[in-house]
Amino acid sequence: MERPAWAPQGIDISVPSVSRMYDFYLGGSHNFEVDREAARKAMEFMPGLPKIMQANRAFMRRAVHYATAQGISQFLDIGSGIPTFGNVHEVAQTADPAAKVAYVDHDPVAVAHSQAVLEGVGNAVIAAADLRHPQDILKDPVITGLLDFDRPVALLLVAVLHFVEDADEPYAAVAELREALAPGSLLIMTHASYEGIPLSQEQAGGTVDVYRTIRNPLIMRSRAEVSRFFEGYEMVDPGLVSMPEWRPDAPVGEDQEDPFAFSGFAGVGRKA
Ligand SMILES: C[S@@+](CC[C@H](N)C(=O)[O-])C[C@H]1O[C@@H](n2cnc3c(N)ncnc32)[C@H](O)[C@@H]1O
Repeated sequence: MERPAWAPQGIDISVPSVSRMYDFYLGGSHNFEVDREAARKAMEFMPGLPKIMQANRAFMRRAVHYATAQGISQFLDIGSGIPTFGNVHEVAQTADPAAKVAYVDHDPVAVAHSQAVLEGVGNAVIAAADLRHPQDILKDPVITGLLDFDRPVALLLVAVLHFVEDADEPYAAVAELREALAPGSLLIMTHASYEGIPLSQEQAGGTVDVYRTIRNPLIMRSRAEVSRFFEGYEMVDPGLVSMPEWRPDAPVGEDQEDPFAFSGFAGVGRKA
């Protein structure tokens, strides 16, 4: 198999990766045939996957705008993925040129590509670390060198917690991160769910099977289970809702949004 120049040495390019599949859904070019094959298979069951991803990115940008409008100038984006149009630092630094953004991902391709994109960009860094080990993130010198945890931080866990299985204690990891944040910090989150998907659970389950096959299980959680991640935070209006319903730029009309965009949950919480 041909290895493109941008692919870091040492990664197994015969195994699909979640971040490269996501890049493919969003129309990016940092993916291999194995990724595209798995993504196409997932889309056979859930043809609206790209719409879900677009709604997710649009929510993320609105939430970052909200954070900067609240005076937050520090961002910790865990599970940041392969950079694509409208990254957190672009949105945040347009609103506030002094905004600081630390990205974290455990996928070497996402890390390598982020390094390339961030070259020459001030106040934005990428660290290779795992959400399942919050202390590695909180003690990473790249991150502590940029962010001041004594001041509010917007923590983004966008489309990542549904890749952390219960056995890996996602609630404990989120609580550990919350403990490290100053009052006034925000948690910005989206999470996949069977709720809101315009398909039966059996149909949508085909997509979940694809992710299980590639050893990156996609954990669909209920509204109550997703709400639990916000323990210790006060929900910002309008609470936990579908992605297009979170503070839309224009009124949400069924005719404007693809029905798939309403899959899963989005929310922002503020630490008191
Ligand atoms: C669907 S992408 C989301 C990218 C971005 N947050 C967004 O919403 O556009 C999920 C990303 O989370 C990363 N990821 C999955 N599990 C992770 C973990 N345990 N620690 C760090 N990153 C993880 C994947 O490598 C991938 O880049």
